[in-house]
Amino acid sequence: MLVSMRQGLDEASKGGYGVGAFNVNNMEQIQSIMEAARETKSPVIVQASRGARSYSQDRFLYHLMVAATELYPEIPTVLHLDHGNSPATCKSAIEMGFTSVMMDGSLMEDGKTPSSFEHNVAVTREVVEMAHAKGVTVEGEIGCLGGIEDGHGAGGDGLEHLTDPDQAVEFVEKTGLDALAIAIGTSHGAYKFSKAPTGETLKMDTLIEIHRRLPNVHLVMHGSSSVPKDLQDIINQYGGKLKPTWGVPVEEIQLGIRNGVRKINVDTDNRLAITGAIRKVLFESPEKFDPRDYMKPARDAMKKVVAERMTEFGQAGHGKDYAPLPISEMIKGYANGSLDPRPSMAGAR
Ligand code: 13P
Repeated sequence: MLVSMRQGLDEASKGGYGVGAFNVNNMEQIQSIMEAARETKSPVIVQASRGARSYSQDRFLYHLMVAATELYPEIPTVLHLDHGNSPATCKSAIEMGFTSVMMDGSLMEDGKTPSSFEHNVAVTREVVEMAHAKGVTVEGEIGCLGGIEDGHGAGGDGLEHLTDPDQAVEFVEKTGLDALAIAIGTSHGAYKFSKAPTGETLKMDTLIEIHRRLPNVHLVMHGSSSVPKDLQDIINQYGGKLKPTWGVPVEEIQLGIRNGVRKINVDTDNRLAITGAIRKVLFESPEKFDPRDYMKPARDAMKKVVAERMTEFGQAGHGKDYAPLPISEMIKGYANGSLDPRPSMAGAR
């Protein structure tokens, strides 16, 4: 059974930990995450972008996720849509069986052009109404991340459209969403920072201020790969050509977790791990041509990164803390108001 993201984030909030949300496109990536979760006894968020849904023809991905819940029944597993660009995209994910959707109304439907606040509120509110009626969780975004991945993103270095804390409060009040993605200087992809980030380029002070104003709202950090040097080095050692680059240090993510961050999006680190492992096999054993010869080490390399992040984010050991509620219970909770967000702490503004 795929479970609600909202319940998982509420539990993470009680336990004071964060939950990694790892992107997938294929079977091996799903296997890596599920194995890492079993090893570390973690709850799991698997997420798929529009690009992933199209790559996997949607239904392959969904059924692989059903297989994951059959093979790993002890693990509370969420299937989340990453960066839905329109209510129609979110609707098709909900119809497919996703238990959580992101409506990224910070960009227009083209997935590139920053939108107005009014547009963002309108599309996010529409998705909240549609999703909550089915017990499905909604993540929204205020402010725009940098970079472009899978054709989605505002570009730039992530400092152009930082989240305004006042707007964040108004956005939560007007939309009634479950989780809020904020822009604090991170970008999608490998090239986030040209040197180790400082308070000028990675605005943790903005995150802390948003949490002060919205102490009961689950915050989401996108673009949170750490882009470790050892993973870059393996790729370059075996014929790759990555330019020197820096990601988001794990200690900064841990600071975020102490300040309301409950979901942390990671894709690039896993891509780097997979590519490094494949390059190594093909470089060292050019005679090999069975895909399993390089996909198995690739799967192991991704599993290692995911298990490390699960431990660092604090979700390890929490996989059996709670009995997942059926989605029908979530529908009731949204209908009777018990799952309404409680945005502001009295006097915080
Ligand atoms: P990274 O590119 O840093 O892994 O970010 C992934 C992400 O935010 C997906 O939404």
